[in-house]
Amino acid sequence: MTDAAFEIAFKNVFGRAPEGAWAAPGRVNLIGEHTDYNDGLVMPFALPHTTRAAVARRDDGLLRLHSADMDGGVVELPVADLAPGTTEGWARYPAAVLWTLRQAGHAIGGADIHYDSTVPVGGGLSSSAALQVVTALALTELHGVQGLSRQELALLCQSSENTYVGAPVGVMDQTASACCTEGHALHLDVRGLAQRQVPFDLAAEGLRLLVCDTRVKHAHADGAYGKLRAGCEAAAEVLGVPALRDVAYDGLQAALDALPDDRLRRLTRHVVTENQRVEEVLALLDAGRTREIGPVLTAGHVSLRDDFQVSCPELDLVVEAALAAGALGARMTGGGFGGSAIVLVEAADEAAVGAAVAAALPQVRQFATVPGPGARRLW
Ligand code: GLA
Repeated sequence: MTDAAFEIAFKNVFGRAPEGAWAAPGRVNLIGEHTDYNDGLVMPFALPHTTRAAVARRDDGLLRLHSADMDGGVVELPVADLAPGTTEGWARYPAAVLWTLRQAGHAIGGADIHYDSTVPVGGGLSSSAALQVVTALALTELHGVQGLSRQELALLCQSSENTYVGAPVGVMDQTASACCTEGHALHLDVRGLAQRQVPFDLAAEGLRLLVCDTRVKHAHADGAYGKLRAGCEAAAEVLGVPALRDVAYDGLQAALDALPDDRLRRLTRHVVTENQRVEEVLALLDAGRTREIGPVLTAGHVSLRDDFQVSCPELDLVVEAALAAGALGARMTGGGFGGSAIVLVEAADEAAVGAAVAAALPQVRQFATVPGPGARRLW
């Protein structure tokens, strides 16, 4: 939908003109899975797919939300009544952002917001982070909030999901949506939040990256995430370190020997080796050896499947079919238990590998992608 059609869509819902429109992307994570809440390293990039928001302020204290992609019409919420646990469905995410901004002392009132999105919902591609970040960016810019960096915006969005929505997520997805830049992967060290934009120009190297959405989300996904996080924190406590990030790569065996049970050992081994894989991928990209990241991605999948145990049969099927058809590397991306896999292929092998994946899992929805820009004002 063009910008003009999007503006008309807002007018059709709210009967007046919007003051502006913003967009924020979904993401894929290249490497560094389940490391963010362990104070570790991640390397996501933004998808060209975005969630857009057309917005106009209101002075009567109402937040009115409408999405072109969701049933149920306009959701109307008095801003003064917003409180954790009180909002249902997709509207929880924008309501959480507004509540969190106000809790942080920003004088933000009501608004009319119309959304649409090309980020596949439920595909593990951070459609909810895109919704949070586009809302936060639009509201802070419209209200002239000064001095809030993109990283701080992402932290506020994460906090809104932790507190208001009640999901104990890390900060990777919101940071990717807020801070990524076109043509780059974002290397983020979650401890200290140092960022580096790493050139990731697949086309120039004759490579393609396929995103394969399995279109499954296993029911236990939400509760499982919290248990994994708690397990990692328990392991760090036994080891006497602030976070699993603090286990040195060459101290891994000693750490494993010190842990009391197999589950904590598996979680620890994944997190420590995954941080190491992020460093490996970074070094290979810096050296212009992009093809060679393939086996590192695949090793990441094996670790998520066998040690962290967050893969599922559909993701394993996609990865195995892609590798058997000649992919350079493949792994699940995001939280797991369904969602999407990424596949790195030679451009010449794209069609054959795509066909092999589709034959293995007919329901798969796949597309080739490149790193797109982060959140921005459209007009
Ligand atoms: C989800 C969370 C992120 C991160 C990933 C796993 O996407 O929102 O914070 O923990 O899972 O890497």
